[in-house]
Amino acid sequence: MIKHAHQAALAEAETPPTVPAEPVAADEHIAPAPRVSVQAFCETVETASAVQAASEDRRLGKAHIKIQMGGATAAFEAYRGSPTPNVIILESENRAHDIIAGLDRLAEVCDAGTRVIVIGRINDVTLYRELTRRGVSDYLIAPVGTVDIVRAICGLFSHPDAKPVGRIIAVVGAKGGVGASTIGHNIGFAIARDLALDSVVTDLDLAFGTAGLDYNQDPPQGIADAVFSPDRIDTAFIDRLLSKCTDHLSLLAAPATHDRVYDFGADAFDAILDALRGSIPCVVLDLPHQWAGWTKRLLLSADDILVVAGPDLANLRNAKNMIDLLRSARPNDHRPFYCLNQVGVPKRPEIAPADFAKALEDAPLAVIPFEPHLFGTAANNGQMVAEVAAGHKTADMFRQMAQVLTGRAEAKRASGGLMPLLSKLIKRG
Ligand SMILES: Nc1ncnc2c1ncn2[C@@H]1O[C@H](COP(=O)(O)OP(=O)(O)OP(=O)(O)O)[C@@H](O)[C@H]1O
Ligand SMILES: [Mg+2]
Repeated sequence: MIKHAHQAALAEAETPPTVPAEPVAADEHIAPAPRVSVQAFCETVETASAVQAASEDRRLGKAHIKIQMGGATAAFEAYRGSPTPNVIILESENRAHDIIAGLDRLAEVCDAGTRVIVIGRINDVTLYRELTRRGVSDYLIAPVGTVDIVRAICGLFSHPDAKPVGRIIAVVGAKGGVGASTIGHNIGFAIARDLALDSVVTDLDLAFGTAGLDYNQDPPQGIADAVFSPDRIDTAFIDRLLSKCTDHLSLLAAPATHDRVYDFGADAFDAILDALRGSIPCVVLDLPHQWAGWTKRLLLSADDILVVAGPDLANLRNAKNMIDLLRSARPNDHRPFYCLNQVGVPKRPEIAPADFAKALEDAPLAVIPFEPHLFGTAANNGQMVAEVAAGHKTADMFRQMAQVLTGRAEAKRASGGLMPLLSKLIKRG
C-alpha cells in the first residue's frame, strides 16, 4: 500500500534530487537488486527508454521489469483487478495537485509492500513532503538517466544498516600465461593489506589454478565443493570453504586435480557469487583464459574488470575485442581497465604501451616490467611481490592498481608506473 510503503526518502525529502552525470562514478557502488518485479507506467518516450535501458543493466539482471505508457491512469486500470508488483514506477507530467490525486487513487488498489517511485517535472519541497507522507519511496525529477533508474530501484533494497555488498573485480588474461593470475593475487593481497578491506580471491581455474601455491596454502576445500553442491550454498557454507591467508585476505581455492572435468553451465557460479557478495566487501575473481558461457557471464556481472595483456599482437587483438564487447554490453559501467605485463623481455620485439593505448582508446592502468627473478622468487616461495621485495616499484604498482580497482583513486591520479602522461593524453570513456 502506498501509504505504508518504505519511508527511506523521508530524510532527503527536502533536498531535491539532482540528475548526476552518467555512467556511475568510480567510487559509487550500486548494489544489484534482488529478484523483484517492477512495472513502469511512463508518460514520455524519453523516460520509457531510460527505464528500458535500465532494465538491461547488469544490476537489474535479476529483476523483472515491464514498461507501459499511460502514467497513473493506466496503473490504476492495471491494478484494479490484479495484484501489484514489488515496485511501481509512475511518471507524471502533471501539476503537483494531479500527481497527488493520481497517487491517492492508486493507493486504493495498491498492495501492502509495493514500493512506489514517482518521476515528475516539478521541483518543489511541498510536493516532496506530500509524496513522502503518502509513502512514496523516491521522487526523481525528469529528465532521468538510465543510472538514475538503476540507482532508485536498487536503492529500495539496500537499506543503510544492511551489510556492505561486495565489490567484484574480475581479472582475466588477453592470452594464456600472461600473468593474469599473478597480478590478480598481488592485487588481492594489496587490497587486503594496504586498504584493509576484507577480501576473497576466488580461483576459477579449477584444473590448474595457482592461487593456493601463490599464497602458500593447501586447503582441503574450496570452490569445487561449492560449485558441485549448488543446493548447499549460502553464506555460512561458503565461509567454511574459505582459507585464511592474511588478516583481511581469504582464498577460495581451486582443487587443481584432474579426477573430474570442469564443464559448467553459464550460471554455475551465480549462487556462489551472491553468497560472497553478501558478506565480503571485495571479491577478486581469478578467471582462466577461456571464453565460455560462465566466464563471459562472470565478466559481465563484475563491478570492475581488469584485462591483463602481454605486449604482442595477439594480446592486442584479443584485449581490443574483449574490451569492445564488454563495453557495449555494459554501457552504464566504467569501461574495463587493462594493464600490460611482462614488458621488456630482452631481445623480444614488443608493441609499445602507446600503441596499445591508441588501439584500445585508453591508457593502461599499469605497465609491469618483465622481472623473472622477482616474480620467480615470489612464485617458488609462495609469496607475494610485496613480501619478497617490500618497497619495490612493482609492489607499489599493485597497491595503486588496488586503489583504482576498489574505487579509492582515479586512474589518472596514479603516478609512477601508471602512465600518468598517457592518461592525460587519452581520455577514458
Ligand atoms: N611481470 C612478470 N615478470 C616475470 N614473470 C612474470 C611476470 N608476471 C607473471 N610472471 C610469471 O608468468 C607465469 C605465468 O603467470 P600466471 O600463471 O599468473 O599467468 P596466467 O595469465 O594466469 O596464466 P593462465 O593462462 O595459465 O591462467 C608465472 O610463472 C609468473 O610467475
Ligand atoms: Mg591464470
